[in-house]
Amino acid sequence: MRISLFWSSGTDRNPAPDKVCMKATRRMYHLIYVSQATRPMSEEDLASILKKSRDYNTADGITGLLIYKFTPSENRANFMQLLEGPEEKVLEAFARIEADKRHHTKIVLEQGEISDRNFPEWSMGFRNADASDLAKFEGYSDLGSPEFWTRAEDGELTDALEIMLSFYADEIADD
Ligand SMILES: Cc1cc2nc3c(=O)[nH]c(=O)nc-3n(C[C@H](O)[C@H](O)[C@H](O)COP(=O)(O)O)c2cc1C
Repeated sequence: MRISLFWSSGTDRNPAPDKVCMKATRRMYHLIYVSQATRPMSEEDLASILKKSRDYNTADGITGLLIYKFTPSENRANFMQLLEGPEEKVLEAFARIEADKRHHTKIVLEQGEISDRNFPEWSMGFRNADASDLAKFEGYSDLGSPEFWTRAEDGELTDALEIMLSFYADEIADD
């Protein structure tokens, strides 16, 4: 027997069948982590990471932003990345990313269900950031320093989403 809800024409009160199914099975989820690059990345290294990421993410319905920050004084580089999309796809992608030997010390800063995507236009946006890009965010301007990693491990970094959104807003404003 068919229930009337599933035969509506798709109004808000009676969503069409495909919308009902999407809601039931595809929870939108996001995850933000920081990591340490195994070595400073060349432009080719970064291009190769982005190409692979965008191919996978387009197929998996994932969007987001990858930030790379090189700290000259320490000759070290770090990543900060946000992934958003269907929960199971985000978690699968993060499992692959976690296993990737090009970086280590991955620490998740934030993860959970979201109602809507924040980066709908980016299969994986990219920003090569420096300290001045992060200066206004308390706790992040020294991203890559030993003190930063202590704060990350202690769960003291709470503004991760705001930072990622600020990069998105900057890019959209420049368009
Ligand atoms: C910093 C960094 C970010 C990455 N971001 C993504 C990503 O957003 N999506 C993705 O599928 N793979 C991403 N990758 C690549 C994965 O780690 C992995 O190489 C890729 O998913 C291919 O996996 P496979 O070799 O099992 O096919 C990233 C890798 C690095 C080092």
